[in-house]
Amino acid sequence: MSLMIHRPRRLRQSPNLRSMVRETRLAVEQLVLPLFACEGAGGRREVASMPGVFNLSVDEIAREAQAAAEDGIRAVLLFGIPDAKDETASGAFAKNGIAQRAIAAVKKSVPEMTVIADTCLCEYTSHGHCGVVRAGEVLNDESLKLLARTAVSQAAAGADMVAPSAMMDGQVAAIREALDENNFEGTPIMAYASKFASGLYNPFRDAAASAPSFGDRRAYQMDAANAREALREAELDYAEGADILMVKPASLYLDIVRAVRDRFDVPVAAYHVSGEYAMLKAAAQLGWIDEERVMMETLLGIRRAGADIIITYYARHAARLLNH
Ligand code: PBG
Ligand code: ZN
Repeated sequence: MSLMIHRPRRLRQSPNLRSMVRETRLAVEQLVLPLFACEGAGGRREVASMPGVFNLSVDEIAREAQAAAEDGIRAVLLFGIPDAKDETASGAFAKNGIAQRAIAAVKKSVPEMTVIADTCLCEYTSHGHCGVVRAGEVLNDESLKLLARTAVSQAAAGADMVAPSAMMDGQVAAIREALDENNFEGTPIMAYASKFASGLYNPFRDAAASAPSFGDRRAYQMDAANAREALREAELDYAEGADILMVKPASLYLDIVRAVRDRFDVPVAAYHVSGEYAMLKAAAQLGWIDEERVMMETLLGIRRAGADIIITYYARHAARLLNH
């Protein structure tokens, strides 16, 4: 037999050796847990297509944040689900809106928790689109004013960071300017920079009752085929002052995560979205995969692609596994 100098198996012989040479690690500090705030009191309503994920009343969301903190979670991404929706998304920027109250409640019960507010209009509009609609069209510049107002009201309610997700052109600049004008120059923006029009958001739309009542989001969210355009979107948000660039969804778009990581020197976040969670849950419930194993493999894959931050409904579950 010829001399074999290289034997990669030498370093795979024991758990200790394997962990010594492990290239990528997942840390609990990198995980962000999405939370859904709804009206009412004492309410926990499980989302049908997202087992283990709940619509939480304001008092319950404070409790959930506390439990998440006990698991080691340091950041949550907050969504508001109002009872009443209208044409102009007035609930999105209402001083006493559902998101504003939930933000304040979480900050009060867990002051050290980083509260990131999702800044969009689709949960608050009667038509379910992410912007102002006129004659069947989603208007870009009209929507910017409302998004800016929403971000300011979220910061005023105590949000530590805002995360614009409407995919309106210029939304980061409009929000940056409005925050600065209102003495929130220290509030960072995590931009949903490269957000694709994806079939993987359906469970979320169940959770948030935010499915568009007509048409779809393809005229503002990105075409799944476009990698170069994803970088252009990231470039624009970076230039507009985004502090963190996000790619969404995550696991089907790892090439985009890698490309954004390589090109920009700001933290990169990846959103492991509702449909990605639902697929794993469903297969696990059927006994077809080992849920914890595939969950960790998925999150590690997202890290390996270059994400510094992972937003995932599995955050608490993963945190508990990382704790021992
Ligand atoms: C709001 C928003 C959506 C998600 C995050 N922010 C829904 C959408 O764009 O339709 C999706 C999150 C998920 O699927 O987990 N614009
Ligand atoms: Zn939206």
